[in-house]
Amino acid sequence: MDVLGIDIGGSGIKGAPVDLTAGRFARDRVRIETPRPAAPKAVADVVRTVVGHFDWSGPVGVTFPGVVAGGIARSAANVDKRWIGLDADALFTEATGCPVTVMNDADAAGVAEMTFGAGRDREGVVLVLTFGTGIGSALFVDGTLVPNTELGHLELGGKDAEHRASAQVREVKGLSWEKWAERVEAYLRHVDALFSPGLIIIGGGVSKKSDKFLPLIDGVTAEVVPAALHNDAGIIGAAMAAPGDQAG
Ligand code: BGC
Repeated sequence: MDVLGIDIGGSGIKGAPVDLTAGRFARDRVRIETPRPAAPKAVADVVRTVVGHFDWSGPVGVTFPGVVAGGIARSAANVDKRWIGLDADALFTEATGCPVTVMNDADAAGVAEMTFGAGRDREGVVLVLTFGTGIGSALFVDGTLVPNTELGHLELGGKDAEHRASAQVREVKGLSWEKWAERVEAYLRHVDALFSPGLIIIGGGVSKKSDKFLPLIDGVTAEVVPAALHNDAGIIGAAMAAPGDQAG
């Protein structure tokens, strides 16, 4: 069965119908720039446009780049603060006329990687980290997600870790891959020491270029691998979270 997944990121809002059996897009994805400011109404309008683009009327899964508990947004590090406390499930359901479930973006990417990607069949503690506008985290214990871990906000060198080591920081500061890899390494060593994961999966758009920085990273006990689904993981995970009887 196909379900529409929509991934709200700091720079783009991307969506595609997903074949939930195969774990891949059933149609070409569409991408629209994230409105600035990324206020709730403006974002809901884009989500409605994506739904309209696919002429969609079934269940929809949407990711949000902040803490989401019971459909309510609880943080908004890289989007408009008006999201905090807002019922995102209800907002998108009303905007689209479709039943919508919202979950944290990194959690969605993690669920997709654990089911169809680099974490498939992995037991024990697995950490999926997404490097984009911020740093997202999804923690799994024997395949079960511990939601909303927010490890991008751990302190690193006196700063919020995502302000030192996100993919956006590399671009904005014009850091070489070597310099950025040093920062990522410091971050990975930190989470490695705190959680002792068996596996760390590096996701986000930058995971497509993992050959430029992963070989430079040393001193991490966990196995460190790039995401298999790269930046598609958010859309696929969002679709997996959509409401309804997906077996039918
Ligand atoms: C947010 C997380 C999100 C991550 C990646 C962080 O700033 O707090 O909730 O998963 O960015 O978008």
